[in-house]
Amino acid sequence: MTQRTRGELKYEGKAKRVYATDHEHEYIVAYKDDATAFNGVKKAQIGGKGAINNAITAHLFPQLEQAGVPTHFLEKLSDTEQRVRAVTIIPVEVIVRNVAAGSFSKRLGIEEGTPLSRPVVEYCYKSDALGDPLINTDTAVALGWATPAQLTRIRELALQVQAFLVPYFAARGVRLIDFKLEFGTTADGEVVLADEISPDTCRFWDAQTSEKLDKDRFRRDLGGVEDAYSEMLRRVTQDVEESKSREVE
Ligand SMILES: Nc1ncnc2c1ncn2[C@@H]1O[C@H](COP(=O)(O)OP(=O)(O)O)[C@@H](O)[C@H]1O
Ligand SMILES: [Mg+2]
Repeated sequence: MTQRTRGELKYEGKAKRVYATDHEHEYIVAYKDDATAFNGVKKAQIGGKGAINNAITAHLFPQLEQAGVPTHFLEKLSDTEQRVRAVTIIPVEVIVRNVAAGSFSKRLGIEEGTPLSRPVVEYCYKSDALGDPLINTDTAVALGWATPAQLTRIRELALQVQAFLVPYFAARGVRLIDFKLEFGTTADGEVVLADEISPDTCRFWDAQTSEKLDKDRFRRDLGGVEDAYSEMLRRVTQDVEESKSREVE
């Protein structure tokens, strides 16, 4: 393990703190138990969430790398910390949807749980003040947030993540309903997957019972939040036979 000295706090978000290190191109991300929803209106602590989201992300990102998706992840340092490549976050949240839910259902009047005939990639402007409004790629280019080439790459990588994650979770008895990704650019201009993949940023439904195993339990006061996060960590890190994951592809 490469221990780095934690330097100044660079960014503090709702779920994580990002620190500079003694290495110019590396940060330490510290995951918090804080949970927020509805644009910060609803706030609470979810016991163990920081450690669980750190562990889930640290488990998935190296496998995504192997599947050809460059990421910011370098290594897990402790229960709640990981070492990552420092990136400039592109302020465009990328959402991939397999099944109608959440804001998509609301906006379009499509019943939650309706399967989509192909994955839908949506883009939002990453702005808490504005409530992460839906945009299109023209908006992102016109406002200088990303170049057309970066957006093409981002869509390609998002669909690669989708192609990896859907069978991965299916093999573990979980339907991946939708998920949110963030991308950043490294010092040498490479677009890489950053941030996290966790029950905070994905919708996971149990394949058998359709029970929600994600942040919607907190958003919608469904109870059992901690248990759902623990259950997702258990399933993500569960050893599944290759043949089983192939069956469900
Ligand atoms: N490798 C990285 N380099 C720089 N910033 C990052 C990296 N990974 C994630 N971030 C940023 O860290 C901040 C803190 O994360 P988080 O608490 O999830 O923020 P938010 O409240 O915006 O969701 C976010 O702005 C996120 O985009
Ligand atoms: Mg976040």
